Amino acid sequence: MSLGSAKRITAPDIAARKGGKPIVSLTAYHAHTARLLDRHMDFLLVGDSLGMVMHGYESTVPVPLELMIMHGQAVVRGSSHVLVVVDLPFGSYEESPAQAFRNAARVMKETGCGAVKLEGGTRMAETIRYLTERGIPVMAHIGLTPQSINVMGGFKTQGRERAEWEAIEADAKAITEAGAFAVVLEGMAELLAARITKQIPIPTIGIGASAECDGQILVLEDMLGLSPRVPKFVKEFAQLAEAIESAVATYANEVRERSFPGPQHTYAMKGEKVAGDGSKAPPRGARQATKRPKMTGS
Ligand code: KIV
Repeated sequence: MSLGSAKRITAPDIAARKGGKPIVSLTAYHAHTARLLDRHMDFLLVGDSLGMVMHGYESTVPVPLELMIMHGQAVVRGSSHVLVVVDLPFGSYEESPAQAFRNAARVMKETGCGAVKLEGGTRMAETIRYLTERGIPVMAHIGLTPQSINVMGGFKTQGRERAEWEAIEADAKAITEAGAFAVVLEGMAELLAARITKQIPIPTIGIGASAECDGQILVLEDMLGLSPRVPKFVKEFAQLAEAIESAVATYANEVRERSFPGPQHTYAMKGEKVAGDGSKAPPRGARQATKRPKMTGS
């Protein structure tokens, strides 16, 4: 069966993978990369990290809903196999369950994605229940929640002190009981991530939370070596920044020395040969056939 006719992975398919083969995911922000990732991933996240990676914001806080919808549409168009999950950005869901439903429904209708993700534990449980009871699959996100950096005081790893565990474990329990189908554990001490993974019946997806989780996610540009700075938990599986710079420098040189574009990159006129000066070259043999005009004396 071709990928084009295969059924997409759904949120319940991901939920059913608890404790099984690790769930593999990356972020994707546009159609071209979604196409490359589609057959290798279980789900693609259109993360609000796109605000920092693609648009140069200092954090995810300024990202508007419209941007998430635009990139969500591109990723859905570029994929046919994976579940596509779209982040609800800061300010689009925290006010009330009704606000969250209105915006999540808009994201699902306008992008065609299969689920949304939102940040927060116990405080978001009521909203998660409201959404799931109304047909919106929700992936939760606890631990380091980047939309809250202004109250957290920065991107700080969570659960490295045992005193923090109780609240984070309560978050995991609350979002599970509210109906989340999976939960991202970000920037979390390994021991705590392992405990939570054992405690809850839904898959945990780790990012900086160790191999103890049921699955892993990374930001694509980080793991490809395209990001200027990466956190400790990122492994760069390629060094694309160097490859891009070297390709760009070669292109610039070739343009400056006029070796690019070459004849193979150039369109000739149909049925005509063009001389080096751009004039129409005479057909082969025409020179010999052409009679010189007679010189007339004056
Ligand atoms: O926005 C994002 O990319 C995310 C991942 C880090 C999980 O939320």
